[in-house]
Amino acid sequence: MDLKMFLVFTPFLLHAILGFPIQVRAEVILLYFCAESPSPTETDSEDEVIFNRILKVNKDSSQYLQEGDIVPQRSRSAISCRHCNWPQSSDGIVRVPYVLDPTYEESHIKGIHDAMAEFETLTCINFVKRKTERDYLIIKSADGCWSNYGKVGGGQTVSVMKGGCMWKGIIQHELDHALGFLHEHSRSDRDKHVKIMWEYISPADRPDFKKFENSNNLGLPYDYSSVMHYGPYTFTNTTGRATIVPIPDGSVHIGQRQGLSNLDVAKINKLYNCSRCSTILDAASGSLRSANHPRNYSDNTNCVWLIRTQSGKISLHFQAFELQRTRGCQGDYVKVYDGSSKSSAVLMDKTCGSKIPNDVVASSNLMLVEFVTDGAGTAAGFQATFTSGRSENKENGKEKQSVSNQPSSSQRKNIV
Ligand SMILES: *[C@@H]1O[C@H](CO)[C@@H](O)[C@H](O)[C@H]1NC(C)=O
Ligand SMILES: *[C@@H]1O[C@H](CO)[C@@H](O)[C@H](O)[C@H]1NC(C)=O
Ligand SMILES: *[C@@H]1O[C@H](CO)[C@@H](O)[C@H](O)[C@H]1NC(C)=O
Ligand SMILES: [Zn+2]
Repeated sequence: MDLKMFLVFTPFLLHAILGFPIQVRAEVILLYFCAESPSPTETDSEDEVIFNRILKVNKDSSQYLQEGDIVPQRSRSAISCRHCNWPQSSDGIVRVPYVLDPTYEESHIKGIHDAMAEFETLTCINFVKRKTERDYLIIKSADGCWSNYGKVGGGQTVSVMKGGCMWKGIIQHELDHALGFLHEHSRSDRDKHVKIMWEYISPADRPDFKKFENSNNLGLPYDYSSVMHYGPYTFTNTTGRATIVPIPDGSVHIGQRQGLSNLDVAKINKLYNCSRCSTILDAASGSLRSANHPRNYSDNTNCVWLIRTQSGKISLHFQAFELQRTRGCQGDYVKVYDGSSKSSAVLMDKTCGSKIPNDVVASSNLMLVEFVTDGAGTAAGFQATFTSGRSENKENGKEKQSVSNQPSSSQRKNIV
């Protein structure tokens, strides 16, 4: 069946399944395909890719879904659920057991593991293979990209369809639902941050923009760049007309394509009571430094920076380096990994002292920098810059810059 026929038939098919007119869905699909060709709004379309991909895939899903990708639960009022958090072990780790669809191939499994690794690196959530646990995720290639909201009890499905949903940001989006997070625009305070353009939302889609008055916002700011945010044109019934417009500056980008944001991470850590010192650096270039640098860092700290550029190979350049020297650098040290987790290959092993290390180059667009200090002796610490090689992805010709200064308990979002 060619694409046009497919587009024409999909709404009828869904109408038949769902029992209500679904004309608008075709336009969302069309919008998606339009967004694929170069146009003046290309950067906008790129930024909404995660959620639009989810919707595009879910057009064909027979699963009844709310807000595009959430499995509804009648027994529970969304958001104020006390028992839908995954339990924390006495060591502070929240272990979320899962089983994987046996039909996944190696590349699918790797994609899912990579998406999970970022949670493990940046938060206290660990996704672990299920042994005998009662509550667990069944991650499988069902029809679409969707999840329940929070822990349901027993085995619960997270659908990550082969092909359509195998994107890091999509997998993280669905896993984040399973951890208990709703779409960002559903927050009780959303009207202060975005204007919902009801005039471009057909009645059938209005429930997708429901506001949860009792949402648990965790005392953390609204996040335009959350992996949980819809794109500007999500569910529009008029091509080119946005359904969600940021206030007061309508040109602020919303939604994104890369994965968890710093505020997504902060929210997970707050909901699950974990103290983690972690920062995502997702601009094309930027810098990082130890807390207080050039004044002395503190004892007993453990911080990571995940450098995640859109493309290119990351190279890290140390500008200043002054760490307490211990034998084998077992006390204070900086360590650099070729990937997003501490089980990735090591690019620079534990390093201390006052000699500035050589530049470090990753094999991809992911690099993890770890800084650990022990209970005795401090020094001025370090400062480093990173760039991501030659990038095909120019952001309007401008390079984005981000700067981080640990520890960033406020977890500011990067510049958008
Ligand atoms: C879009 O939605 C609005 C509001 O529900 C409705 O008045 C309008 O007729 C719809 N437009 C189209 C083209 O369906
Ligand atoms: C986090 O701590 C609060 C207060 O101590 C508690 O009510 C809540 O249940 C904890 N959350 C988790 C996920 O353990
Ligand atoms: C700061 O670090 C230097 C080494 O760089 C050390 O000699 C000094 O004692 C430290 N100062 C404090 C107050 O810990
Ligand atoms: Zn969702």
